[in-house]
Amino acid sequence: MKPVDLKAMFELKTPALRRIGRAVRADMDAGLRNRRSTLLMLPAFCDAATGREKGRYLALDLGGTNFRVMMVRLAGRGRKPAVLAEAKYKLTHDQITGEGRVLFNAIAGYVKVFLRENGFSGRYGLGYTFSFPVKLLGIDEGILLRWTKGFTARGVVGGKVVALQKAALARRNVASVDIRAVANDTVGTLQARAIRDPGCVMGVILGTGFNICLRLPVSRIRKSIGAYGRSHMIINMEAGGFGRGLPRTAYDRRLDRASKNPGAQRAEKMISGKYLPLLVREIVLDLVKREKLFGGKIPEIFRSPDGFKAHYMDILECGSAARRRELAGLMLGRAFTPAERATLKTVCHVVAQRSARIAAALMSAALSRAVPADGGRGATIAVDGSLFEKYPGYEAMLKKAMGELAGARGRRAALELTKDGSGIGAAIIAAVAGT
Ligand code: GLC
Repeated sequence: MKPVDLKAMFELKTPALRRIGRAVRADMDAGLRNRRSTLLMLPAFCDAATGREKGRYLALDLGGTNFRVMMVRLAGRGRKPAVLAEAKYKLTHDQITGEGRVLFNAIAGYVKVFLRENGFSGRYGLGYTFSFPVKLLGIDEGILLRWTKGFTARGVVGGKVVALQKAALARRNVASVDIRAVANDTVGTLQARAIRDPGCVMGVILGTGFNICLRLPVSRIRKSIGAYGRSHMIINMEAGGFGRGLPRTAYDRRLDRASKNPGAQRAEKMISGKYLPLLVREIVLDLVKREKLFGGKIPEIFRSPDGFKAHYMDILECGSAARRRELAGLMLGRAFTPAERATLKTVCHVVAQRSARIAAALMSAALSRAVPADGGRGATIAVDGSLFEKYPGYEAMLKKAMGELAGARGRRAALELTKDGSGIGAAIIAAVAGT
């Protein structure tokens, strides 16, 4: 197989994106009606922030292998929030994949250390960004429907995540925090932008995971939202779970089978930063097997799934000669031949490009439904995540595909990098919950 075949295999032209978009819209509608759908469309029990939110809040961010704690001050009147203190803790394999109690205990322990080390001795309202499919029962409690992104901690799925966290805080004698809100990272990202931009209609994460939230009128939500008294609500699509009509290759299927959640998160496995290097690895292993690469010998780095890191893709696509040499040394103990370099570059490029184009199809479909708080036709999409922020050319590919889908008359939106939604956004949601 030549690289040119790979290009064809991973190519998605505009009509193919339109087909995906139609399937996304159908699943969005079904999900909002509680019918069978690959999109969960989970109510977030809050509307977009207004910018008037004020006060000091603690924010917890669980969603990847780094767990973060922050103290955030919201100044109101659309002014920029301040992060007063922040700490990041690396979660261990055991904490992520062992007993749920171990994970929640660890988090409670980190909160305790954070408060002590920073001398925060008051009582604090807390916003908890819990970036997994959580079915909220209200703004301050929710049930974990399933784990994603490699998390498998036992005894949590089906359980109430805030109650589990509160119990662990009590076990660690942390009595000074009050969990006011639990939210998805996409919702935090939307809120972090909404406080200064009423045109913000969507929050998107393109990082380790992939997901979208959007603002909708409650009349479109045909499932129980209890006594929520406002006209609009943000919906967490769990867009990474989308799985209808995606053109999967043999590589996608192999990756899926080897994953911790076979069959689930199909879009995420074609889009997000956790999976793109794994996809590159599957292709490389196949090319080596067919003796089209590295003389038929598998380099050590590709032997185990976590050997080939996400940032190697940036280097192979457009890193400096020095960084490429360094990576070749690590991979092969020698420089790349021109043919090897070209093949690896193509592999990374086709995988990243397809990711951006599928993400664009999902985002455009969501945009066609989302309603801004300022009632205007223009819209902003708040985006966070390393893939969007750092991958060379990713933002441009995403914008190009969204432009193709909008055509001459479709709605267009500005994509705005919005950092730290899971920190600042969580604080905002805790403040909104208090009003
Ligand atoms: C996964 C999670 C989702 C989260 C996304 C980005 O898709 O299921 O809740 O928003 O990753 O972190």
